[in-house]
Amino acid sequence: MSDLAQTGVYPASAEFVAKAHVDAKAYDEMYAASIKNPEAFWAEHGKRIDWIRPYTKVKNSTFDYGKVDIKWFEDGTLNVSANCIDRHVAARGNQTAIIFEPDDPLSHEAQHITYAQLLEQTSRMANVLKANGIGKGDRVVLYLPMIPEAAYAMLACARIGAIHSVVFAGFSPDALANRINDSEAKAVITADFAPRGGRKTPLKSNTDKALFDCSEKVKCFVVKHTGDQTTWIADRDVDMKAEMAAASPYCPYAEMNAEDPLFILYTSGSTGRPKGVVHTSGGYLVYASMTQQITFDYHDGDVFWCTADVGWVTGHSYIIYGPLANGATTVMFEGVPTYPDAGRFWAVCEKHKVNQFYTAPTAIRALMGQGPEWVEKYDLSSLKLLGSVGEPINPEAWNWYNTHVGKGKCPIVDTFWQTETGGHMLTPLPGAIPTKPGSATKPFFGVQPVILDPATAEIKSETATDGVLCIADSWPGQMRTLWGDHERFQEAYFAQYRGYYFTGDGCRRDEDGYYWITGRVDDVINVSGHRMGTAEVESALVAHEKVAEAAVVGYPHAIKGQGIYAYVTLMNDVEPSDALRKELVAWVRTEIGPIASPDLIQWAPGLPKTRSGKIMRRILRKIAENDYGALGDTSTLADPSVVDELIENRMNRA
Ligand code: WTA
Repeated sequence: MSDLAQTGVYPASAEFVAKAHVDAKAYDEMYAASIKNPEAFWAEHGKRIDWIRPYTKVKNSTFDYGKVDIKWFEDGTLNVSANCIDRHVAARGNQTAIIFEPDDPLSHEAQHITYAQLLEQTSRMANVLKANGIGKGDRVVLYLPMIPEAAYAMLACARIGAIHSVVFAGFSPDALANRINDSEAKAVITADFAPRGGRKTPLKSNTDKALFDCSEKVKCFVVKHTGDQTTWIADRDVDMKAEMAAASPYCPYAEMNAEDPLFILYTSGSTGRPKGVVHTSGGYLVYASMTQQITFDYHDGDVFWCTADVGWVTGHSYIIYGPLANGATTVMFEGVPTYPDAGRFWAVCEKHKVNQFYTAPTAIRALMGQGPEWVEKYDLSSLKLLGSVGEPINPEAWNWYNTHVGKGKCPIVDTFWQTETGGHMLTPLPGAIPTKPGSATKPFFGVQPVILDPATAEIKSETATDGVLCIADSWPGQMRTLWGDHERFQEAYFAQYRGYYFTGDGCRRDEDGYYWITGRVDDVINVSGHRMGTAEVESALVAHEKVAEAAVVGYPHAIKGQGIYAYVTLMNDVEPSDALRKELVAWVRTEIGPIASPDLIQWAPGLPKTRSGKIMRRILRKIAENDYGALGDTSTLADPSVVDELIENRMNRA
């Protein structure tokens, strides 16, 4: 770690602090209040959204293994879509809710969708869903580009009480089918094609392939977005735009309980298949909206841009639900940072006068490599604040972001959180907490981080310490369960450290009480800010007929943060070759999606196993990191000689 990361402290300017929602004194008081009496704190802040029937109960939760149960505002009723749209229409019906920025700025115009238009389009789509038999509690899978219809679809489901599950458009037909089946979805909403970086992903044809493996009752709504021709299955496929045009422009919203599920979002875990994280309505919305306003110091009239995809939780909380619940103007970007050229992010910031910009370190590193001239070309004077999410931000990327994008005047909020947490957990509040590059700094209101000793599970109470990061008590944005598998929920998050929610991350706390995330301590890797379970990639590899065994680990990668390193043992009679390497990469892409492509494949005639047959991943990680000098104790291996062979033929000689 560079000196800067250890010593640099960056307070916001006095001018920024003067206007901020929360300053240092307010943070200390509010944080203390939120921990001392969470009931009273959240009873007050729960009022930031509109309730149909106000809650009288606030918090009801236990982290006790065996009976984990989490409820917030449990007797309140509301509608999330009404909170994100209807309640703003009277005062700001003509204000832009969503700025849609298309993939190709030369052939397509940006669109400004007002709150009044958002109400009409969402209503029309909700009416189409209803007319096709979708109602409260039904699951609807969304497999869409980053287009306004993705927002309408999420809000239309919320409006009628259906539960959406967005599947990132980069996932393969197989991955899509698994999610449709696991959630027992009644319908999929997709588009003809997803344009990205000038190329088109055939979403409809991927959906056709996926639906071969699903119940024939699943309906398929298709948004004709690019207008390119696709197959059409009469009786099953519905032309979404045509039906919307014919539907009624208003749809009443359903009264939902605070604890009714709002969405399921599949994410990777350390074992087995992706987990269906369930978020409910009331607590999630309170938390997403409060963090959007306070972490980003969002003020009325600001233009907020989160560059994530709605296929990830960041897009759920900080493109759609948080900003819209606050009556904000939120940018939805269909494209990629490098198309038509490496100045695209900054061109969009200039064009739409973006005030808060939120992206991932991997994007910053990729753009950094293209040189600062791409940034300097644009007028970025509208920017007031920058954000980072997805992985620790390295000091070099932080410096570049601060200097070239923020011009040294924008606080950078490094937000640590997870699909499971619904919103920010550790983050600077920009007017209150001076930042240190690489540190997610302090907990948000209501969040009680604890650092435990991984071996003894004891709390490490000294200020400066390190260990694994757990959370001691519930907060409103927390996931409630895994879809259909409360057992697995408890096993994954509450079994290892009894009485705590376990994040899966390692963490250090410095002498100032600042938290520094050190990365996952389980078999989850973080590739370009996307979570990937090594077990998922392994099971895709072994599903190939030429593969006998596979072990996958992460290794440091200059742009992606972590790359995917696969050790593959081939079937007896199969010859290794570069062609086979390519074949296996292509295979994983079709099994999971391009984000899971192995970067390096090493042929491994044998894998280091204990005498009981357990693969020693610690050793494989070290070799992949090109750090094989300190392999530790290898004496428990069944055949220690395989290690020398693996070192000899290692692929990462960086
Ligand atoms: C990592 C994304 C360091 C962490 C919102 C976490 C981070 C996982 C940060 C969750 C950060 C996310 N600093 N690490 N600011 N933000 N992570 O579910 O390992 O896609 O457990 O949620 O990303 O990834 P997920």
